[in-house]
Amino acid sequence: MKTLLTGGAGYIGSHTAVAMLDAGHEVAVVDNYVNSSAEAIARVEKITGKKVALYEADVADKPRMMEILKAEMPDCIIHFAGLKAVGESVAMPVEYYRNNIDTTLTLLECMRELGLTNIVFSSSATVYGEDNVPPFTEDAPKGMCTNPYGWTKWMQEQMLTDAAKASAAECEKLKAAGKTAGKDEWKSPLSVVLLRYFNPVGAHESGLIGEDPQGIPNNLMPFISQVAVGRRDHLTVFGDDYDTPDGTCRRDYIHVMDLAEGHVKAAEYILGKRSEAEEESGKPLGGTEVFNLGTGSPYSVLEMVAAFGRACGHAVAYEVGARRAGDVQDSWADAEKARAVLGWQASRGIDEICRDAWNWQSHNPHGYKE
Ligand code: NAD
Ligand code: UFG
Repeated sequence: MKTLLTGGAGYIGSHTAVAMLDAGHEVAVVDNYVNSSAEAIARVEKITGKKVALYEADVADKPRMMEILKAEMPDCIIHFAGLKAVGESVAMPVEYYRNNIDTTLTLLECMRELGLTNIVFSSSATVYGEDNVPPFTEDAPKGMCTNPYGWTKWMQEQMLTDAAKASAAECEKLKAAGKTAGKDEWKSPLSVVLLRYFNPVGAHESGLIGEDPQGIPNNLMPFISQVAVGRRDHLTVFGDDYDTPDGTCRRDYIHVMDLAEGHVKAAEYILGKRSEAEEESGKPLGGTEVFNLGTGSPYSVLEMVAAFGRACGHAVAYEVGARRAGDVQDSWADAEKARAVLGWQASRGIDEICRDAWNWQSHNPHGYKE
């Protein structure tokens, strides 16, 4: 299978590139390096011993994307490109809506013109909002998001779902009338897989690629890693007065390589591969399917701090501070659908997560910069 990964030089994209290449698929990457560098792809090539077709481009630049997609004609696009910092999205909503929505609309227009019909999208558990009770199943209602970043995911899910529905209706209509599709019509029904990630953490076991946040990390694991390696003094735990066993919030932390392997399964599924449990086989999806990618097991902030201390061999300094605005107390997946339909489940636990995160951080204390 030929895959094209938008945002493929980023954290999850680069790990997915490794998993795709390891599974014997071809990989092209489009990235504008707004939050990454080409070095990540050089390392993907080093890990796998395989080549990646690398394009520097803005996914919202339609003429350029038409050129790239025409050259590659991928069987499946995996759309990672996007801005993802929750706090920054509150301060810069216009930039977030422009970038995240525009990249998806541009891709859809290019795909329709070129007759490309398969797309896997990076969504987030954030679309479940605050009112659902974990474990979240895929059919739990999409809730109210607490920030513009979350709304962009919510909206992109909706846009892709609506486009898939309309494409199927259009193809039926054309078929009934005995007509062939024009430039602005779908040649076959669009197939969409929405992957709702829980909390991706950890790194490839080689220690060559990992998460490399710019500035002060927003997320727990990179912050802990930077404290452990001596780049920061201590972690602030955002609140220990929640209604949980140790008072801190609980999340579903998933090893990024498990997540990456979930993308391989999703892309294979979209092209017609089915797990044994499913009856139909060899039939492209044609429509929208949504899967949680999580482990189903929650860990608290303090449990993660303790696990990281075991992995790096010394305690990670922390202080308890105030709650962070917008945090939900509990979030974890019901991961059964991905297991039953994709034949995928996470296999790495928190000790492997912390071991691999520490391996990456201790060998690359300043990320890709050295
Ligand atoms: P990342 O920032 O490391 O990767 C995103 C990549 O997209 C970067 O390489 C960036 O340079 C690129 N990019 C952004 N806008 C672009 C544009 N207009 N054109 C071309 N490239 C562009 O982030 P990540 O953690 O790897 O996340 C990947 C995707 O998964 C994102 O869509 C993110 O919202 C989503 N997601 C991430 C998490 C998480 O916790 N990391 C959770 C849920 C969903
Ligand atoms: N936390 C701290 N201190 C820190 C950072 C985080 O105590 O310095 C706590 C948070 O309060 C939370 C937990 O660690 O309880 C996890 O926080 P993260 O910021 O790592 O992750 P979130 O669950 O808040 O958000 C992540 C992604 C979002 C995505 C969401 C989906 O950042 O993009 O998961 O569930 F939408």
